[in-house]
Amino acid sequence: MSAPNKSYDPVEVEALKPEEIERMRDEALAAFAAAGDLDTLQEAKVAHTGGASPLALANREIGALPPHAKAAAGKLVGQARGAVNKALATRQTELEAERDARVLVEEAVDVTLPHDRVPAGARHPLTTMMERVADVFVSMGYEVAEGPEVEAEWFNFDALNFGPDHPARQMQDTFFVQGADGTKDSDGGESGVVLRTHTSPVQARALLDRKAPVYIVCPGRVYRTDELDATHTPVFHQIELLAVDEGLTMADLKGTLDHMVQSLFGADMKTRLRPNFFPFTEPSAEMDMLCYVCRGDSVGNPDRPCRTCSSEGWIELGGCGMVNPRVLTACGVDPEKYSGFAFGFGIERMLMFRHNVEDMRDMVEGDVRFTRPFGMEI
Ligand code: PHE
Repeated sequence: MSAPNKSYDPVEVEALKPEEIERMRDEALAAFAAAGDLDTLQEAKVAHTGGASPLALANREIGALPPHAKAAAGKLVGQARGAVNKALATRQTELEAERDARVLVEEAVDVTLPHDRVPAGARHPLTTMMERVADVFVSMGYEVAEGPEVEAEWFNFDALNFGPDHPARQMQDTFFVQGADGTKDSDGGESGVVLRTHTSPVQARALLDRKAPVYIVCPGRVYRTDELDATHTPVFHQIELLAVDEGLTMADLKGTLDHMVQSLFGADMKTRLRPNFFPFTEPSAEMDMLCYVCRGDSVGNPDRPCRTCSSEGWIELGGCGMVNPRVLTACGVDPEKYSGFAFGFGIERMLMFRHNVEDMRDMVEGDVRFTRPFGMEI
């Protein structure tokens, strides 16, 4: 822009010639008309009305004109800018209206679409299986008890008569929890805390919490350092049962087991016991149930082999026995007055043979294609 200067007295300034102003105005109007959307219009707005636009520059030139020429030039430029601003506002309104109409169509919600066709979730078959088993005992008057998964070694082992040097403690399959001070290493097990390796510590907790007689059933998650494969998982589920009362015998244990398998698998089911050892039961036994699939018919019958029990006729369920008097004593129960029985078994295995699940990984992966066929059991 030229500064006012007495020696400078141009008759005409190029940028302020009427035909130039008209051209600037017409270019602006054409650019607005051509803008097809608000972004392009914004660009045209900056180019034709902004501080560096031809009309703005022309406006500034007015100051450099001799006084007698200022009024006419001012009117010319003012009218052109007025026309440009008006056209801009009109086009802005038009394009906004177009955008609003388009958004209304694009974002329209069809309120008549069905709203209630979301598939309802289903509970995991392990959960329903555990509850089924627990229900058998709840209906007999047992109470459902729970204990922590991060458990004191004392409950997981000592209270259950595993001596300090019992191999089960050191066995590779216990997860030891690192001490809070972080100094104990996780293999050393010196923190005194483990991830429970079975649900049996709940036996000790239940006996300490309650006065005999005690009848509890305890479903829960347990941990062992197994690799995940078709038949192992480091996190699995057990269900534990404990009855402590006056005069309980192994016959009560056997009758309870038979009742359980009959409730779950049919009236013709039965169990058998085989000698075994657990530190917390004496005597101890391994419990088998009649094969759920062949009912024993495959035994000695090569024409009808059974994959579920490998034609053995029996399926191993878990461990059981009469509560060791040392456990009763450790938990403040008088073994002279009371006796008890207990058993525990894995739910994953039961789900496998009851539903022909061949790979345990299916149970932990959370794929709904596995869960869905179990239906909406609650
Ligand atoms: N806790 C034992 C296990 O995990 C099973 C068991 C429970 C055995 C109760 C006897 C009595 O193998």
